Amino acid sequence: MTAVGIDAVEIWTGKLKLDLPETVAPIKDKDPDYYTKGLGLYASSFPDAHEDIVTMGANAAYRLMERKGLTPDDIGRIDVATESAFDNSKPVSTYIAGCLEQVYDEDFHHANKGERKFACIAGTQSLDDAYNWIKAGRNRGRSALVVATDTALYARGDPGEATQGAGAVAMLISEDPSIVELSTEQGYGSADETDFLKPNQQFPSVDGKRSMQVYLARMREALEDFENAGGETHPDDYVFGPYHTPFPGMVRKAGLFAFRHTIRDTDIEDELAAKIGRQPREDEYDDREAYEEAIRAYMDDLKSTEQYREWYANTIEPTLGISREVGNWYTGSVHIARASALQYAVENDMGMVGKKLLVGSYGSGAQAEIHAETVQDGWDEEITQLSIDEQIRNRHNLTYEEYELVHDRHNHDKRVELDDFTEPENEFVFTGRGEMDERTYEYVE
Ligand code: HMG
Repeated sequence: MTAVGIDAVEIWTGKLKLDLPETVAPIKDKDPDYYTKGLGLYASSFPDAHEDIVTMGANAAYRLMERKGLTPDDIGRIDVATESAFDNSKPVSTYIAGCLEQVYDEDFHHANKGERKFACIAGTQSLDDAYNWIKAGRNRGRSALVVATDTALYARGDPGEATQGAGAVAMLISEDPSIVELSTEQGYGSADETDFLKPNQQFPSVDGKRSMQVYLARMREALEDFENAGGETHPDDYVFGPYHTPFPGMVRKAGLFAFRHTIRDTDIEDELAAKIGRQPREDEYDDREAYEEAIRAYMDDLKSTEQYREWYANTIEPTLGISREVGNWYTGSVHIARASALQYAVENDMGMVGKKLLVGSYGSGAQAEIHAETVQDGWDEEITQLSIDEQIRNRHNLTYEEYELVHDRHNHDKRVELDDFTEPENEFVFTGRGEMDERTYEYVE
């Protein structure tokens, strides 16, 4: 069967930076360690005044198409995943196609376009849609362009404010891909939850603590479902585990749960038994409460074992590098985790062809999905060309007062005018609104 997966990737970060320990901590009267050690975040990215989800997505997509030497005729569908859309009818993919048509001779009239919504998991769902379209043989030799783009803003003063971020990830999904092949096996954990939602409002209503519990519960279900689908989950089978990363501290918790789950009934559990005992089994306890208490005690012990620490340092920590500097990108978040891990592999000269990643996607509301990816020949050339580190370094560093203006500028209800902090160059920019309140864009050389 032909391999289908991610053939190319480009990442575009919002061009402004808010330094959390330096700029935010003194204003909020917080210990800087709350951000860097507790949440695991150093900074957030924000869009400049001329940026939004369309420009960030179009800029990532254009860069990808140029680098791969593609024209619109090579693309059969454009799917945009976002939870920051500004229109309930016209999808962001039409705006992105419109931008790209300004710089290519051909158009995208032949391409199927859509917008996927399910909180942060929509980025991975769009990959699935593209994968299924190709596997069904409907692509006529063409590739799919998937763009995950978000401006993750919270109301000022909300605890989620510390986890904000903005950026886009463009991915080309093709036959015989150069980065990773996606597995046929998938696992889902999905339930009707009201932990994080935006009922016709831009900023989320969040029950932060509960959202973390829901993340862990749905991920566990998805892992079990993946196992039921025949997926392997032994820790030794996977080099990296990129998970949805609202903030790295969340992944720290998820990593411990995943490790406990996947070592159950394995040689690793046997090896650890001499030091910390075997994992509690529910049927050994009279009631659920006693079992949960025993599990908590086991996890506390597990956390400090050398086996767990080593696994976390090698498999999970490398996925967090970009996220620490940019915050939550919602739909793009798990995709920057994958990119971050593969950048680490390039830097450390790791032979990756044929090696596997266990990818955990998540969206509030809520659904988790687990699938495996196999690294393909050509992955390192693709990853080496990423400019995300340079983009991160070049961001304009906002003062707190500037941050408040930027937050207002991107508040859909406020429509605040604001001068640019950076000079646009070779990129699409937001230029204003037209007669029907549609947003307008142009390419600036
Ligand atoms: P909070 O309640 O203010 O933070 O906000 P906290 O008090 O729980 O502290 C966070 C961690 O920092 C804790 O670590 C503290 O101990 C530690 P833990 O005990 O949990 O390991 N800490 C410190 N460490 C070192 N030095 C210090 C210090 N002080 C504290 N001085 C919360 C956290 C997640 C609630 C908030 O950021 C929030 O509401 N965020 C938005 C919701 C969210 O991100 N949820 C995550 C799961 S849901 C999800 O991922 C979906 C999402 O992406 C949306 C979508 O799908 O579309 C959000």
